[in-house]
Amino acid sequence: MFGSGPLIGVFDSGVGGLTVVAALRRRLPAATILYLGDTARLPYGTKSRRTVLGYTRANVDFLERRGVDALVVACNTASAMALEDLDLRTPHWGVLEPGASSAVAAAGRHVGVIATESTVRSGAYEHAIRRLNPELLVSQRACPLLVPLVEEGWEDDEITERIVGRYLEPLLEAKIDTLLLGCTHYPLLRGVLERVCGPGVSLVDSAESTSQAVARQFPKGDGHGGSAPKAPGVRLFATDAGSRFARLAERILGEPVALEWVDVNETGMQTQEVDVR
Ligand code: DGL
Repeated sequence: MFGSGPLIGVFDSGVGGLTVVAALRRRLPAATILYLGDTARLPYGTKSRRTVLGYTRANVDFLERRGVDALVVACNTASAMALEDLDLRTPHWGVLEPGASSAVAAAGRHVGVIATESTVRSGAYEHAIRRLNPELLVSQRACPLLVPLVEEGWEDDEITERIVGRYLEPLLEAKIDTLLLGCTHYPLLRGVLERVCGPGVSLVDSAESTSQAVARQFPKGDGHGGSAPKAPGVRLFATDAGSRFARLAERILGEPVALEWVDVNETGMQTQEVDVR
């Protein structure tokens, strides 16, 4: 299964982190990616720091047991609430710092941040943006209904557009010029977000900047020493099996996927391949 490139472990609470995987695939085509969607415990964005920390630890252990060369926490909520408290030996990236630096690079005067309730409550984006440019105004808005709408596959639905409109109203009234999508699920709503924001607001997400940071670590695209070169790809694990997850994953990655159902708390390596169609 492993290619000659690096073996990279990525996780999110659901399908959202696959937006980061798609960007990683473009930049590191020789990499093999192990992706874990913690669908049994989604959403993270309404939960406490202690709970998110426990989930994050279990997910990281699951991926480290599989010998990954690098870890990407492709979940803003876990990046904001848990990453600092983990003592990780494996090279790792969250999506928060890359997202904040893209927003600062794109911003004029006022950045709007949309994210889950927990990410907004942590204030992590505001800190990260102000650390890079204290002159910028930052306004945040929690959008708890957006993750379930994406997981439901309603990214381009009229109802979604109305809900997005309601959430963004105060930010647009406050005249933001840049909107940072502070949740890895939100790039899937880009079409709706662009329609609601109009041409005067630049949309920024962390998928590209995170994949760029990871690619810098593997300049020759290699990393997993010693294994025979075989076709690289993405291996998908989920803590709850569902055809909806697989359907969305295929759309995001643009390739057929096989889904393996896992219990991250089991120390054994057993997985169960599930029929996703
Ligand atoms: N996609 C995740 C994030 O970036 C979290 C969604 C959720 O589980 O609430 O925050």
